[in-house]
Amino acid sequence: MEGPDGSGKTTQIELLKKYLEDKGYDIVITREPGGTAISEAIRAIILNKDYQEMSHMTELLLYASARSQLVNQVIKPALAEGKAVICDRFVESSAVYQGIGRGLGVSTVYEVNNYALGEVKPKLTIFMDLDAEEGIKRKENQTELDRMEMEDLSFHKRVVEGYRQLAQLYPERIFQVDATLPIEQIHSMIVEEVEKRFFS
Ligand code: TYD
Repeated sequence: MEGPDGSGKTTQIELLKKYLEDKGYDIVITREPGGTAISEAIRAIILNKDYQEMSHMTELLLYASARSQLVNQVIKPALAEGKAVICDRFVESSAVYQGIGRGLGVSTVYEVNNYALGEVKPKLTIFMDLDAEEGIKRKENQTELDRMEMEDLSFHKRVVEGYRQLAQLYPERIFQVDATLPIEQIHSMIVEEVEKRFFS
């Protein structure tokens, strides 16, 4: 599940989880960066707003390191046990935040992340599409901003544009949903897509 801050990913993940559980699946949910003790420790470094001097490449490598640990410690074992995994952010977050937002280039991001992912590839990416301004507004009452949230509006606009470009380039693996629609309607659209891709 991908999208800018405040796009409602968590809500939709919970609804999709319930839907799949009702179908009899065991679901594992991950959140990035984080999800293992090591990945949470890396998260604390990445998002620490005191580290303004962090280079873009360091940032990319830290996200990939946190992801590598998550893939090996949580995702691979879950898949091996026949569970379904829903990820709150994955490699496309790095593609847009570091590749496009930071300007490191999407191909560099995919190259680095190939080491982190190995053969583990998402079967479907759902992109919750929301204008950057709206996402920021939705998070306005949050008291403390992390290092990424402190970035200016132009950064967050590049991120959203990046998601839109990727969704246009790769419609076969990225499903784009209008995140301003009512929660239940978004859920129905996601279910329809999941049914089409996995159960028909
Ligand atoms: P988080 O508080 O989890 O954001 P959200 O609730 O919106 O998912 O913080 C994660 C932040 O890290 C978010 O601003 C997006 C950013 N990010 C990247 O820049 N690259 C990545 O690869 C990932 C996974 C997240």
